Amino acid sequence: MLTIGTSLEIRTLSRECSGVMGFVPTMGALHEGHISLLKRARSECDYLTVSIYVNPTQFEEQQAHASYPRDLKNDLELCNEIGVDFVFTPNNSEIYAKNDETIVTLPYLGTVLEGVSRPGHFAGVAGVVLRLLNIVDADKAYFGAKDAQQIRVIKRLVKDLHMNTAIIECPTVRTSDGLALSSRNVFLSAHERIQALSLSAGLFKAEQAFQIGERSARQLRRLVRSTIVDQDIISIDYVSLADSETLAELTGDVQNDALLSIGAMVGSTRLIDNVVLVV
Ligand code: PAJ
Repeated sequence: MLTIGTSLEIRTLSRECSGVMGFVPTMGALHEGHISLLKRARSECDYLTVSIYVNPTQFEEQQAHASYPRDLKNDLELCNEIGVDFVFTPNNSEIYAKNDETIVTLPYLGTVLEGVSRPGHFAGVAGVVLRLLNIVDADKAYFGAKDAQQIRVIKRLVKDLHMNTAIIECPTVRTSDGLALSSRNVFLSAHERIQALSLSAGLFKAEQAFQIGERSARQLRRLVRSTIVDQDIISIDYVSLADSETLAELTGDVQNDALLSIGAMVGSTRLIDNVVLVV
């Protein structure tokens, strides 16, 4: 396994590899969710590149960027165990050249749901993923369904800009009690973690109701909200039931596949989760 810090070197290496290049972009602090992406990519590609880069432009506050969990030593060990070929660990100037000023915005997909309380977040994500995909020049890039809006933004970006990388979606990995794995979970106290379980519990409850025939969007959203218990600790940002592809919020009955998603503060930690209701 090679650890590479410069864009030029990873691009050169990538172009020299004959065979399918897989790519998993991450911000590090790797957990089982990331590992599921790495293993899938490893099994489907001849070469595998992982990037570990805590991208400053997708954080609204400098503080959130500074305090994002980092554990490069452990990340490299995990990558090595999985058989990653190249780990790209750029610094800011490798991604954003001097006087860089190109911004990628998605005026609809980037501003609904998470975009309401995180303005600029998806421009940051789209901007860095575009740069990373251009640098690594992979055939396939793997993303998690956990970040439902993010993968829709990335699929849109790749399609709109005629980019050459196939975007592969991988299922959300959860703990046995249902919590979606996230690098941010380390910030939860033991009590907050227990309360946070009500987010996925609410989604599952609505999913079960859907499976036995409930189709009312309003009722399904209400089921999620009513399952979320301690409002002192949890502050719900949104509970959304939207068309799974367009993210247009549903008003009447669910007729096509729909994304049921939630964004909430649990103490001072922002968590998101979702399930897709498949018709
Ligand atoms: P990060 O949060 O490190 O996530 C990297 C990838 O792992 C994303 O595709 C994310 O959806 C996936 N992932 C995270 N938790 C998961 C889980 N529990 N199950 C399945 N997949 C999971 O997402 C980012 O980084 C950044 O925004 C990035 C795309 C790297 C751009 O900076």
